[in-house]
Amino acid sequence: MSLSAATDFRNRIEQLGDLPTLPHVVQKLASMIGRPNVSAEEIGSLIEKDQVLAAKVLRLANSPFYGFPSRIASVPHAVVVLGLNVVKGLTLCATAHDIMKDAGLDQLWRHSLGVAITAQILGKRLDMKNAEEVFVAGLLHDIGKVLLYVKWPDVGKKIKAANPSGDRPMVQVEQQLYEVSHAEVGGWLANAWHLPVALREPILFHHQPGAAQDAQLQTAVVHVADVLVKGMACGNPGDEWVPPLSRQAWDLVGLDEESLAGCITRASDEFLAIDDYL
Ligand SMILES: [Fe+2]
Ligand SMILES: [Fe+2]
Repeated sequence: MSLSAATDFRNRIEQLGDLPTLPHVVQKLASMIGRPNVSAEEIGSLIEKDQVLAAKVLRLANSPFYGFPSRIASVPHAVVVLGLNVVKGLTLCATAHDIMKDAGLDQLWRHSLGVAITAQILGKRLDMKNAEEVFVAGLLHDIGKVLLYVKWPDVGKKIKAANPSGDRPMVQVEQQLYEVSHAEVGGWLANAWHLPVALREPILFHHQPGAAQDAQLQTAVVHVADVLVKGMACGNPGDEWVPPLSRQAWDLVGLDEESLAGCITRASDEFLAIDDYL
């Protein structure tokens, strides 16, 4: 593909009309991720402005996954019992689910949820302050694929045709044909959605975690989670290929064999609990 074609492609992405839209409420919420000075009331009333979303958050909050004995009846109540960060995570989770399911990408959704859950487990092990941040980054890491494969079916078809057996990495095929990858497309989306760097870098660099500058740990965690989930064959993001694990990222995450096995078991349990409730 010529350089001008790549530029044309970038222009298409930047035309906001073509982007899957994040509901206004979610966009606002996503930009608040990790900001310590946002109050529980602010978040609660923000989510309640979108009734459909609020209903989904409550459904998740009342799932056996959280195991609260009495019913959680309102979003502010959910914020009080589950905490602000969990509710922020749930909201984005419900939204990513809708975007991918509406696009017919069920397998990508399963893969993304698996990566989100695994990333959060790794984040907690590392005592990261905002483990919900890597959960959301995991959910959205392959969001560029929604554009590449659904919004522009001509592009998606060409990429798939060039890799019929799915045994080459999609990133490589995308680069070769379009000089951009789903990771870059996701990075542009993250920009357009004004997502904070802690979400943008893991999306943009999940296939080359060494390139992250401001969110190195978050990017390493999402990268490792992505490789693990692909190795477990949970969902299918479009190719069968398990990406090589970055040594640098692996060292940053610092898992030994025993804790790795524990993380995988926990991730599978949590996966089943959440997936049922969306
Ligand atoms: Fe990816
Ligand atoms: Fe992925």
